[in-house]
Amino acid sequence: MLQLTDVHVYYGHVHALRGVSLKIDDGKIVSLLGGNGAGKSTTLKMISRLVQPKSGSYQIDGKTMLKESPSRIVKRGIIHCPENRRVFPTFTVEENLKIGAYKRKDKKIKSDFEKVFSYFPRLKERLNQKAGTLSGGEQQMLAIGRSLMGDPNVLLLDEPSLGIAPNLVIEIFEIIKEINKDGTSVLLVEQNANVALAISDYGYVLENGHVALEGNSKNLKNNDEVRRLYLGG
Ligand SMILES: Nc1ncnc2c1ncn2[C@@H]1O[C@H](COP(=O)(O)OP(=O)(O)O)[C@@H](O)[C@H]1O
Ligand SMILES: [Mg+2]
Repeated sequence: MLQLTDVHVYYGHVHALRGVSLKIDDGKIVSLLGGNGAGKSTTLKMISRLVQPKSGSYQIDGKTMLKESPSRIVKRGIIHCPENRRVFPTFTVEENLKIGAYKRKDKKIKSDFEKVFSYFPRLKERLNQKAGTLSGGEQQMLAIGRSLMGDPNVLLLDEPSLGIAPNLVIEIFEIIKEINKDGTSVLLVEQNANVALAISDYGYVLENGHVALEGNSKNLKNNDEVRRLYLGG
């Protein structure tokens, strides 16, 4: 279990996280919802130790993570798939996937390639294509595939639906569900609350750097405030 308790993060004078507490139980999909600037990406960056909290605690299975470097966090299987899908545009699909495995020396790497191709057959068809020439949806698939090559226990996904054609969003979310069924926990950051709550077990709504609401995804979906603010009525 991954757990944040009362985490505060500042960027200079900007108080970006104001006491965030959340947890991801093993095997679950947890949504982190909220509008622009609410602190969603900062929460993920804090979990991958790219930003340092001013106070609060961060534990995995009861062990504190605040002294761990970002690369130690990756080794523990906490893999961050960043906003705007950040693939390396001049590298091929295959090269991008290999980069995802750079921390690993184990023998499972080869079979993980096959696993990525079983989730995303489009990537196999485009193995030697430069990543920059893929469609937005395909680049998102590649970004998720690259994260999977890091052998995640917990996958941190930052807005995977952003700027992607609706039919590909459905395809990608079906695959996120499959990845989770195969044993990876997921923290899913989304502005698209509808699709996120449809596949997650539990959800948190961030507002102004704090958790304004939380609950089972089913309950959140039926919550009047969530419907009004994030589900279009
Ligand atoms: N590098 C930064 N420097 C200063 N302020 C930042 C930085 N990154 C984010 N912020 C601010 O922190 C707040 C939370 O941002 P962010 O976590 O990116 O929100 P979200 O992902 O929910 O849109 C916003 O007010 C944003 O302007
Ligand atoms: Mg963001």
